Amino acid sequence: MAKNFKRQFPRYKDLAPLLKFKLPSLPSRERRLSKALTIWDLRALAKKRTPKGPFDYTDGAAESEVTLERARRAFLDLEFRPNILHDVKGVSLECTVLGEKFAMPVGMAPTGFTRMMHSEGENAVARAAAKFGIPYALSTLGTTTIEDVVSAAPDGINWFQLYMWKDRDASMQLVERAKKSGVKNLILTVDVPVAGARYRDTRNGLTVPPSLTVKTLIDAIPKPEWWINFLTTPAISFVSMKNWNGTVAELLDFMFDPTMTFEDLKWIRSQWDNQLTVKGIQTIEDAKKAAECGADAIILSNHGGRQLDRAPVPLHLLIDVKKELKKELEIHLDTGIMHGADILAAIALGADFTYIGRAYLYGLMAGGQEGVERALTILGTEMVRTMKLLGVNSLEELEPKHVRLLPTHAGLGTLPGVK
Ligand SMILES: Cc1cc2nc3c(=O)[nH]c(=O)nc-3n(C[C@H](O)[C@H](O)[C@H](O)COP(=O)(O)O)c2cc1C
Repeated sequence: MAKNFKRQFPRYKDLAPLLKFKLPSLPSRERRLSKALTIWDLRALAKKRTPKGPFDYTDGAAESEVTLERARRAFLDLEFRPNILHDVKGVSLECTVLGEKFAMPVGMAPTGFTRMMHSEGENAVARAAAKFGIPYALSTLGTTTIEDVVSAAPDGINWFQLYMWKDRDASMQLVERAKKSGVKNLILTVDVPVAGARYRDTRNGLTVPPSLTVKTLIDAIPKPEWWINFLTTPAISFVSMKNWNGTVAELLDFMFDPTMTFEDLKWIRSQWDNQLTVKGIQTIEDAKKAAECGADAIILSNHGGRQLDRAPVPLHLLIDVKKELKKELEIHLDTGIMHGADILAAIALGADFTYIGRAYLYGLMAGGQEGVERALTILGTEMVRTMKLLGVNSLEELEPKHVRLLPTHAGLGTLPGVK
């Protein structure tokens, strides 16, 4: 028998303020996305809603996948040094990159086969980028043409990424179309003399578009929206080369040119009179050579860990490249960015700009264009909060003193959110 209190019947008057039942008010996509607080949450949603083949194609990396893990880990293995008691009322994420003003120091990296992740595909990503005032780079391996992207996002900054394939004339025709569509920055990817070995794709027997087998049909049962979209929208085709019947790896090996050298870079420089960015630089030596060949920017990148296994961590390389190259060209960086603070760390250590790949693709798979917008909102919010906590109002105020790299414990522990 309780001694220290008196019991009574529950009264509605007392209960009413405690009742928090709400009728669902948001449409289900919005409701689902609003629960995602981090990019890792979007990844979890993406995994639930996307067939295994396309999800693994996006999420996976080459061979041991340690390259991607190390790049992500490098961002966690750092310490931010905040300055306290600063007025941080007016935080701005604005930056000027390759002569254009952007609302945030991050762009959408080129990713192939985007309509396979979600039927809304490249147009959704380009529209989200335009809405957030940041650039979108369409891949040569896109599933939407540059003309369609530009008409979907006419107010956006639309860039084009080139893989120089064996068929030089066909490659240059794409460049010509990009130029006619108003593209001002050509991103030449140089880390793919051959396709990386992505074992998840081989094990899944991934084809573009995904084939209908007993396995894929069983996998489809809990992912109806993806399949309904897939079956009721125009067939996914690789727009630069229609009707490819082989696997992704075979396609890449057919396309990529293992004979390409710095001479070809010089040649492209002579053919393209606007901004030229070289993507996939992984050593100081090559950064200098790219500068000598007249690149306007380089992207320190290991292709999201999808090419050479055990490749350099771009964030670590940045520190060395920054020491060697001063104002010759802009230094951009990608691979492993999963949080707004990762972007700020790169900027503090000397990057002029960054790109995300998977971070927006997880959003796309989680909920089309709104999912991509959710990813950008998450990263933007994280950046603003981190800047305030660091005591800075603008990106120019971020300096190397704000970041200290901790001794790395490469490969140890599990990353947040990996399940
Ligand atoms: C699914 C997928 C497809 C990609 N396709 C291309 C491509 O067609 N061209 C290219 O230059 N890079 C491609 N990349 C690499 C990205 O441009 C970028 O370098 C990488 O995603 C950055 O790493 P992150 O995913 O950790 O942000 C692809 C990356 C992913 C995840």
